[in-house]
Amino acid sequence: MTAVRTESSAQPASDASFPPGFVWGAATAAYQVEGAAAEDGRTPSIWDTFSHTPGKVRNGDTGDIAADHYYRYGDDVALMKDLGLQAYRFSVSWSRVQPTGRGPAVERGLDFYRRLTDRLLEAGITPVATLYHWDLPQELEDAGGWPHRDTAHRFADYAEIMARALGDRVGVWTTLNEPWCSAFLGYGSGVHAPGRTDPAATLRAAHHLNLAHGKAVGVLREHLPSTAQLSLTLNLHQVRPLGDSAADAEAARRIDAVGNRIFTGPVLDGAYPEDLLADTAQIVDWAELVHDGDLAEISRPIDLLGVNYYSPTVVSAAAEGGASTRDDGHGASEHSPWTGAADVAFHLANDQLTAMNWAIDASGLHTLLTGLAASHPGLPLMVTENGAAFDDYVSPEGLVNDPQRIAYVHAHLDAVRRAVADGADVRGYFLWSLLDNFEWSYGYSKRFGTVYVDYSTQRRIPKASAHWYADVIRRNALPG
Ligand code: NOJ
Repeated sequence: MTAVRTESSAQPASDASFPPGFVWGAATAAYQVEGAAAEDGRTPSIWDTFSHTPGKVRNGDTGDIAADHYYRYGDDVALMKDLGLQAYRFSVSWSRVQPTGRGPAVERGLDFYRRLTDRLLEAGITPVATLYHWDLPQELEDAGGWPHRDTAHRFADYAEIMARALGDRVGVWTTLNEPWCSAFLGYGSGVHAPGRTDPAATLRAAHHLNLAHGKAVGVLREHLPSTAQLSLTLNLHQVRPLGDSAADAEAARRIDAVGNRIFTGPVLDGAYPEDLLADTAQIVDWAELVHDGDLAEISRPIDLLGVNYYSPTVVSAAAEGGASTRDDGHGASEHSPWTGAADVAFHLANDQLTAMNWAIDASGLHTLLTGLAASHPGLPLMVTENGAAFDDYVSPEGLVNDPQRIAYVHAHLDAVRRAVADGADVRGYFLWSLLDNFEWSYGYSKRFGTVYVDYSTQRRIPKASAHWYADVIRRNALPG
């Protein structure tokens, strides 16, 4: 299998089963797992700089070594094969293949991704490549970063390098992972790299990320075989008003605008929503920011939309003058990341929490998928991330028992299955994550892997959930 099924889903055969050809995978991202941060010509990305800045990441953790995937990828692919994974979603470290973010590529860097993808194909595992999972080359940030329009042009050049290097072996491509986080956490709240807190820069970054996506789709279409499947992955917020007041409904609208429609509007519908433009008119001059022709580029058709889902977003109107500073689910912040919606308060959906303090509510995934199927019929969907962090430990017998993760994944897979039964064209599911890894500003303190990583030895121990997931894959169905 080298691509994701191109036909729409048949209805599931029985209650607990998934459509034939449903793709089962797991995901990682370069900075979170690779390590080898200064090897084979790689130069710092914004996350190297950020993680090496005291106070930015818990315990001073960095991605210097991470899960050592750069050197252990062979064993990791063997592990994936043992688990029966059918696809592996990984990201490419931009500064590993194009150190300054411009100019010629470094072959040694590209060779890593050639070796990785060859090994995957030998193992019968479909490679799914994400071009950008938050690690901008530091030199491009120094030149202005995502708020600077030129970064979108640089991204298009980088996409061409990757298409030429891997186009003969990678059939499924994602331009950006969760651009909301790059813009709003990177330039808004500053809890992610590069750590800036500038509302105008946040919205400029969002537009240039959209533009980078659109330009990359153009370049990839030109340089990849016509069978290539192109996608974008969004962390769409499943926004719910806390109460039924008009003020809470208004809070939900504002968050839906800056959390979701700022991306789905231009990418899927060819325009920024009017209410978003009105809400943010005091922050940025959209007429200056969006050039003629940008929206046509940004809305180039894609073949799949990637959906990352962890927890719903419950909002209400904030008390007078009470801008929310609550942890939004991506790291505690002094500033709200919600540029353009500062007068909103955030709430937990319930008190069943993961180790991230995110509320567990699988119904949100069903709502998201069926909502997209209704708003954008004919657009195939893929769950490109879903999973949970819990406080895993190795028992004296050497086992990692993670019943809470099994329950979480079970409930969310059931939500996917129900969404498919309700007509959503969901082509596959990628567990986040294959391995425990560098959880951004939380460092190594949060474990999302279905495979435990002992960071002192780099030993891998598949958790109970890995064996459970392998069984689901084997049956193409949930256990009864
Ligand atoms: C989304 C991001 O894409 C991934 O990098 C992160 O580790 C997970 N969510 C969990 O927070």
